[in-house]
Amino acid sequence: MSQWEFRTGTAAATQQLAQQLAKFLQAGDLIILSGELGAGKTTFTQGLGRSLGVREGIISPTFVLVRIHPNLPDGHNPGGPDLVHVDAYRLATPGEIDDIDLENTMDSAVTVVEWGVDRVEHLAASRLEIELVRAVGGAAPAPAGDPASDPAGDPARDPAGDFAGEDSATLDFAGTFDEDDDEPRTLRLSAVGPRWDGVDFSALAQLSTGAAQEPNGID
Ligand SMILES: Nc1ncnc2c1ncn2[C@@H]1O[C@H](COP(=O)(O)OP(=O)(O)O)[C@@H](O)[C@H]1O
Ligand SMILES: [Mg+2]
Repeated sequence: MSQWEFRTGTAAATQQLAQQLAKFLQAGDLIILSGELGAGKTTFTQGLGRSLGVREGIISPTFVLVRIHPNLPDGHNPGGPDLVHVDAYRLATPGEIDDIDLENTMDSAVTVVEWGVDRVEHLAASRLEIELVRAVGGAAPAPAGDPASDPAGDPARDPAGDFAGEDSATLDFAGTFDEDDDEPRTLRLSAVGPRWDGVDFSALAQLSTGAAQEPNGID
């Protein structure tokens, strides 16, 4: 197993990291995403889908356990894999996992499973595990109102970032409700199994460092 760690400053940067990662992927690959609600698992999957050239509309699959996004023959990656997007949160037993028949689509798709840890590892000999973490570990959060780190002095933002709701909703400075506040995330990638032997993901780090990055022609 090999491991890499990346940081993103915005949801767009997380998607760009996923778009770059997607270039390593082929049909049959399994990706297991973990991290609390609102960590960015679905956001990351949207970036994968964009790069794979599959049908759009990747949303949280919480109420539909599996969504198949077919590769688009008139997209930018014709003939590439489909994307199968699974939310395993409610799938507790191995029998429930078997019921959704992921084996049938694995061979022609990249299969991405949110909440898949300890649930779907048996589906493939190799996998990428990606844990998304709100950047509260490591460096201590800046003290509230620290003018050096937070010139806007946003008093409503929880400096510990430990909001536990479904979305990353915070109150912004004007007191309005904003679900799309960009915040830092740490992404920990573990590459497990022979498929990933010797594969070097370090190039992704150049993209992910720093905050909001322009798409740079990645479409
Ligand atoms: N750096 C970031 N990376 C990913 N998402 C972020 C980031 N900063 C803020 N967000 C926001 O966090 C939310 C993540 O939601 P979502 O991807 O549905 O999470 P999950 O699928 O893990 O529950 C989105 O509203 C997204 O815009
Ligand atoms: Mg989700």
